Amino acid sequence: MSAKPRVFVARRIPAVGLDLIAPHCAAEVWPDLLPPPASVLRDQVRDCDGLISLLTDRVDDELLAAAPKLRVVSNFAVGVNNIDLAAAARRGVRVGNTPGVLTEATADIAVTLLLAAARRLGESATDARDGRWQTWDPLGWLGQDLVGRTLGIVGMGRIGFATAKRLHHGWGMRVLYTARAPKPAADRDLNATRVDLDELLGESDYVSVHTDLNPETKGLFGAQQFRKMKPTAVFVNTARGPVVDQAALAAALRTGTIFAAGLDVTDPEPLPPDHELFGLPNCVIAPHIASATVHTRNEMARICAENLIAGLTGKPMTSEVRA
Ligand code: DGY
Repeated sequence: MSAKPRVFVARRIPAVGLDLIAPHCAAEVWPDLLPPPASVLRDQVRDCDGLISLLTDRVDDELLAAAPKLRVVSNFAVGVNNIDLAAAARRGVRVGNTPGVLTEATADIAVTLLLAAARRLGESATDARDGRWQTWDPLGWLGQDLVGRTLGIVGMGRIGFATAKRLHHGWGMRVLYTARAPKPAADRDLNATRVDLDELLGESDYVSVHTDLNPETKGLFGAQQFRKMKPTAVFVNTARGPVVDQAALAAALRTGTIFAAGLDVTDPEPLPPDHELFGLPNCVIAPHIASATVHTRNEMARICAENLIAGLTGKPMTSEVRA
């Protein structure tokens, strides 16, 4: 009987996933809350056939070179910007990810942040708790409305669509979007219009980012882009931190170039507590929790395990990413 393939799981993931893996693989699970340092990860995968990685684990050519037996990297995320896909393809390593199952949870957080930023929830709740709630003030904590306003979706993929669907059908928002290709479902179901980024920035009251991180989208939002937005605009990012030039965002929030921002992702993560963005009352920051529901994380673990097993047995993955 041949030995089970060896697998390293770079963090504790929901039991649903580990239970699926156990009968097929000899799996070692990294027990700590914090990710294994790069050198430790390299040592751990040296003799492995498979790796379950997280978005905090860099899977680069150096790591792949150190793991000559590696056949599969199954990422516990939809985003794969932590993986050098070209290097994996060159070395014949298959890569899996977990799209679809986190769409709804992520769209919920995009809307949550949008509302929190528009209605100054972080700032007003902190003021209430810290004794700055003196009376019912006709001019206190005034925010922005949503009904009938314009929403700009940057990247009309699954999550962009789910976010726009909530805001179009729930608040009657007009939807503009950018995308590499037209999105007939968005045009038809959300009465959405595809525009270029400049038009979207100039017209939108809310701008929500849903692009993946790649060389084209890195730093997509800088001083110039914030200057094109309305002074009443709210900016939301649930995609990846490096899509935004954070110094430019902080300046735009500080000077009133835009009204507020809601971020689920930053660069770096975690964002240091003394970072300027944390000091700005018009910036709401969550610690990358968009997919953090019990059901969603269980589903991510299931797909991630299925991808791993399929990769190791030469079968089609539930979701495979190609360079
Ligand atoms: C992803 O999957 O890419 C999210 O950022 C984390 O759930």
